[in-house]
Order: sequence, then structure tokens, then C-alpha cells
Amino acid sequence: METEKKTHTAAEQMTDRDLSEQIKKVTKESHVRAENTELMLSFQRGKVTLPQYKLLLCSLYEIYQALEEELKSIEKDLEYFYGQDWREKIVIPAATKRYSHRLRQIGKENPEFLLAHAYTRYLGDLSGGQVLGRIAQKSMDLKNGDGLSFFAFPGVSSPNLFKQLYRSRMNSVELTEEERNGVLEEAVRAFEFNIQVFEDLQKMLTVSDNNLQSSMTQSKPVKASTLH
Ligand code: HEM
Repeated sequence: METEKKTHTAAEQMTDRDLSEQIKKVTKESHVRAENTELMLSFQRGKVTLPQYKLLLCSLYEIYQALEEELKSIEKDLEYFYGQDWREKIVIPAATKRYSHRLRQIGKENPEFLLAHAYTRYLGDLSGGQVLGRIAQKSMDLKNGDGLSFFAFPGVSSPNLFKQLYRSRMNSVELTEEERNGVLEEAVRAFEFNIQVFEDLQKMLTVSDNNLQSSMTQSKPVKASTLH
């Protein structure tokens, strides 16, 4: 309780100069666009399908592999859906490759920009992500947390407190004016990468649905889709 009170006060003291405030402001419009991609809309309406969710996990795996080494929860979910040989089966669309390529590139050239990507993914996972996890569980009727490890943060008892702590750590990173502007620009880019990943996945699913439909109406066998 005491910590909660203290962090809350710290949050109230944040100023317009704080990186956490600026980053939220510059990505506000991007957040609205990300929320309104077809994939995120079907998520929110509880209409997320297994092929959509499985493909999304494949992309998240590639993205987090580039963002960090700690991947155990996504690996667990991929094994649940794709089986033990999931490594041979996962599908990585072009937009996801571009995203992970960017992460590796800035890791070498401008590691401070990684902050923008960590912000976009982790604070997102701890915000809307928590709601999406519950929706995913209901929409696909997943039991015992199977396939949902990605959304679980067993080490985080209060997502809100954790987010506040994360923001105050972000604000204490020392950056020159130029670096700070670079981080803010990179955050907008990070959202853009995410939006492109969702659009790419959605396109792949539409193509695979069409293939499936034509394979049902044609007598000639059509190559089986790898997505189902
Ligand atoms: C924060 C919802 C998609 C990144 C939030 C918050 C909500 C939310 C309710 C808390 C806002 C606040 O504390 O003021 C959603 C919903 C989504 C979605 C419903 C889609 C269905 C995304 C995506 C990303 C993202 C795709 C990026 C990949 C973030 C970030 C924050 C956030 C970084 C933290 C903002 C801050 O406090 O600075 N989201 N979100 N969200 N979301 Fe989303």
C-alpha cells in the first residue's frame, strides 16, 4: 500500500519534459491506428480465430527474439499450437522480418533506440495486452492457460505499479536532446512496424482462406495451406 502511494505521487509529479509523457504523446495517434487494424479489431470483438492467433504468435516470437533472449513463454505457446517441431513450422511474414531486422540494426548502431521498442511492446503487453489475453482465452476456448503464456506475467503482481516504475526508469535514462528526439521518432516507427505486421498477417490469412475455398470447389488438388 505504502509503495503504491509513493509511486502514485511520483507519477503525479511527472512533467511535460519526461520521456514517458513525450513518448505517449507522440505515439497517441499511432496507438489509435494500431488498435483499429483489422486484426486488433477482431481481437476486441472476441472474433479472433485460431489461424489469426497462431500467426500472430509466430511474428511475436521473431520480434521478441530480436528484442531479448528471454523467450520461454512464447516458445511454450508455439509448442502447444504447432507441436514439438514448431521451429520448422513457424511462418514469418515479410513485415515481421523487417521489424526484427530494424531491432538488430539499431541494437548495433543506436542501442538507446531499443528503449522505444521495449516501451511499445512491453507497456502495450501490460496494458491492452492484458485485456486481449482474456479475450483470446474466451474466443478460442483455451483451457488451463494453454497457449496463453505470452500474456501472463507471473512476476508482475500489479501491472499498473509496474508500468509506473517502468516510466520512472525511462525518465531517468540520460539522453542528449538529439538522442531523445531519436527515441521519440523510433517509438512512432515501432508502432508502424507493429501495424504493418498485423496487416501482413491479415493479408496472409485472407489469401490462405481463399486458397482453402478454391481447393474445396476445384477438382484439381491445391497445395495445402501451411497456416492451418
Ligand atoms: C496502453 C488498449 C493495442 C501499445 C494502452 C492502454 C489501453 C490500451 C487501455 C492504457 C492507456 C493508459 O494507461 O492511458 C489497447 C487495445 C489494443 C491495443 C484495446 C488493441 C486491441 C496496442 C498495440 C500496441 C500498444 C498493438 C503496440 C504494439 C501500447 C503502449 C501503451 C498502451 C505502449 C502504454 C501507453 C503509456 O502509458 O505510455 N493500450 N491497446 N497497444 N498500449 Fe495499447
